[in-house]
Formats: sequence, structure tokens, C-alpha cells
Amino acid sequence: VVAVSTKFFRELISSTQQKERQKKEHTAMSLAPPINRAMTQLDRAFFKRTLSLVEAHFKEPKLVGQFVKQYAREMLKLKKVRNVHRYEDGTRGVILKEEVKSIDELQKLSPESLGFLQTNNVTLKPYELTIGYDFWKTEEILGAILPEQFLDEIPSGFTITGHIAHLNLRDEFKPYGALIGQVILDKNPNIRTVVDKVGSIDTVFRTFSMKVLAGDNDLVVEQRESNCIFQFDFSKVYWNSRLHTEHDRLVSLFQEGELVCDVMAGVGPFSVPAGKKRVFVMSNDLNPDSFYWMKNNLEKNKVLDYVQPLNLNGRTLIKECIKYLKEFSDKRKGAVKYVSKKRKNGEEPVYHELAVPKFINHFVMNLPDSALEFLNEYNGIYSAYPELKEVPSFELPMVHVYCFEKFSPDEPEPSEEELRYRVHKRICKIMDYDLDWKTLQFQLVRKVAPTKPMYRVTFRLPEEVAFRSI
Ligand SMILES: C[S@@+](CC[C@H](N)C(=O)[O-])C[C@H]1O[C@@H](n2cnc3c(N)ncnc32)[C@H](O)[C@@H]1O
Repeated sequence: VVAVSTKFFRELISSTQQKERQKKEHTAMSLAPPINRAMTQLDRAFFKRTLSLVEAHFKEPKLVGQFVKQYAREMLKLKKVRNVHRYEDGTRGVILKEEVKSIDELQKLSPESLGFLQTNNVTLKPYELTIGYDFWKTEEILGAILPEQFLDEIPSGFTITGHIAHLNLRDEFKPYGALIGQVILDKNPNIRTVVDKVGSIDTVFRTFSMKVLAGDNDLVVEQRESNCIFQFDFSKVYWNSRLHTEHDRLVSLFQEGELVCDVMAGVGPFSVPAGKKRVFVMSNDLNPDSFYWMKNNLEKNKVLDYVQPLNLNGRTLIKECIKYLKEFSDKRKGAVKYVSKKRKNGEEPVYHELAVPKFINHFVMNLPDSALEFLNEYNGIYSAYPELKEVPSFELPMVHVYCFEKFSPDEPEPSEEELRYRVHKRICKIMDYDLDWKTLQFQLVRKVAPTKPMYRVTFRLPEEVAFRSI
């Protein structure tokens, strides 16, 4: 019995949902924007449209409340359009549903609602509603002006960095770039510039050229992440807002007073928030533009006491990390002083001193395309400094290395374990060391493509590798 009644209700609900959907589709269809597929310059005025409707004019405002409550479905329902308005003399106008286009079509109202209007002497009169370009969404406007063969794949998606909307238009859409860009610009008040990716990504600095499709020719953005502010020229450095969860996740592993070597730091999305936590960071990037903006961000976020900008090849920094650590420490005379902020009124300030560690707690290598290739540089990084082992609380560094593990769409999809196993094998080979599989921690960061997962692999550098004589 239960099964039958559940089925009955399910069917009833589904048929009601279907009717609702059909009703919506009907409304959407009848209100589609006018079409002009020959438009090459955006002509906003073209979209102006006047709809003939009917208004119920209520002399007694209190009746409006009753009507709205009982007969809401007889009223006009359009996004961004108010269906009740107030006249200066205190009377109210209620616009009736779109199907009722003239006084001759009042039979489209329910008899009950019509009865209500008649009994209460409500006047019915024609009403003209003008809508235009602002009424429709980006996809609707583009759907009315782009060639018909593109309608299934209208490019209205984009990512936002600061004030820039960034598109990655397929070749066939490129000729319509200016139109697409302008509509996106108009419809998104927080966006000042729309750009399209041009050509392929630079393999070393991970940047790509971009073309401004619409808006200001200003590619220097301000972007907030992890309570920090980042400023950079979007065309000259690497930035990916999709990584913010991973940035937060990794930074949360660092403790105050630890020392991090951010080998491929970009403009500082790990090192700036780490600095704010009083984590010491050697923040390095090979790209001179990244270095420039990173310095700017360290200054802007007031973390230069804790974070040192560097502009080296990451290989050099890993190999000579102790030399750079000594320079880092000397610059700060071995420690950083700070005043504890949480002071109650009248209390003397509390001064603290945080000593720069003598060894490195974490190495971060976020260059997923090739960071694994740098792992051979860890061989013997501490070999010239055997005394490190005597330092109280000495620990070997944690290595956090990012990588892709691409597989062919033609092979049967490898299991997660298999993919991780492949990464493990690559690491062992490059480091020339048989790392214990069980000591590796994997974090799936994101899938760049269905066949291209990006991982962070975290492991402690083995003593044998760090102190290996070279
Ligand atoms: C994928 S980005 C990551 C940037 C930043 N860590 C982040 O999470 O956004 C990789 C960075 O590595 C830098 N890079 C490339 N080759 C390098 C090398 N040999 N040494 C140091 N940095 C390098 C690039 O300039 C780029 O900023």
C-alpha cells in the first residue's frame, strides 16, 4: 500500500513539476529578447520592447493586500519588474499576469479573482511596460546576437581576478570577443575589464598573454585572499584564485616561529598569510615581475620582518638553503621583536622576541608542471653542516611538492591509488632514494582536466638524503 501511494505521489509531483517547467519555458520564450544576428557593434537600444498588459487599479489600498495574498498567481511575475506600484494620490496599481495582454483577454484570469475585482469595483485598464537591454541576462543577450550554430555553447562563464573577468574563448568565438566582452562588462558591475587568453601558457613563468576585449586597459589588479591583499599585473605573473583553499590549508600547517622556504612563491599567496602568522619565510620566485609584486605585497601587508623576498632559480635556493638562511637570520640579527597587541587599557606593552630557526621546517614547491624535477637538489643540502643535528629541537624539513599526474583518456581510468603510486615512483627516481610509501601524504588539490589531477605530496626529507655527501 505504501509503495503504491508513494508512486502515486511521485507521479503527481512529477506531473506538477513538468507543468511548472512548461509554464516557465512558455514565459521565458515569450519574453526572449529580440534577435539580431547581424549586430557587430553592441546596440543596446535595439533591445527595447514594449509589452501590452493590463493593470488592476485599486482605489482602496487595503484590498491590494487581500488580492496579493489570494491571487498572487494572477499577477505579473518578471524578475526586476515590480508588479505593484503606488500612485501619488495613494491608489495602487497591480499589473496582471503576462498572458492577459488586453482587456479582451480577462477570461484568462480565474473566475474567483475576476469576481474579487468586480465585487470590489476595481478598475481594469491597459498598461504598457517597457523593458530593454538591462532586463535580460548575459546569456540571453548573447543568445540573441551570436550566430545560431553557437547557441548551445554561449561563452558566458569567466573567472574573476580583482576587477578583471578572464575568458578563455574558443577560436570560433574570437571574432565576437568585443561583443561578448562588452555584454559581460555591462552585466557585472564589479568588473572593469574583460580579457581573453591569447596563445598558450608560458612554460616557465606560467603566465599568458591577454587581449582586452572591453573596459579599461588596466591589468594591475587588487585581489583579497586569506585576509591579505595582493596587487599584481595579471598579464605578467601567475595567479589562480581557485587555489585559495589549498593556500589556506597549507598555511594552517605552519606554526609561529617556524621557517618556510617558499621556492616558487609567485606574488606571495603562501608567504604573505604565513608572515601574518609570524612564520618566517624565504619567499622566492624566478620571474622578476613576480618578485617585484611579491615585494610590493609583503610591504602592503606589513610582513617584511618575517618574510624575505628572493629572486633566484629555485634550484639554487634549495641547494644553498643554509647559506640563504644565514643571510636571512643576519639581516634580522637572529630574531624579530614584536609587541603583543592584546593589551588591556593601561597595561604596559609586552615585548616578545622570536628567534630565527637554524634549520628549515618546510619547503613549498608549487610549480606542478615541473617541481618534482627539482627534488634531486635536496641531495646533501645539509651535508656541509653536520652540526645541525646537535641543534636542540632539530627536525628534518617537510617537503610539500605539487605535481600533475596526467593519464591518457584512452587507458582505463587508473584508480586513485595507482595514480599516487605513479607519483611515488617518480619521486623516488628523481631523489634517487627509496622513500617509504607509507610516509607520503597526498592531497588532491583539484582536477585541472578530467585526466589531469593536481596533487600536493607532503613528506619529511630523509636524513640520508639531506646529509648525503655530494
Ligand atoms: C604555479 S606558479 C605558483 C605561484 C604561487 N606559489 C601560487 O601558489 O600561486 C609557479 C611559480 O613558479 C615560478 N617559477 C618557475 N620556474 C621557477 C624556478 N626555476 N625557480 C623559481 N621559481 C620558478 C613561476 O614564475 C611562478 O610564479
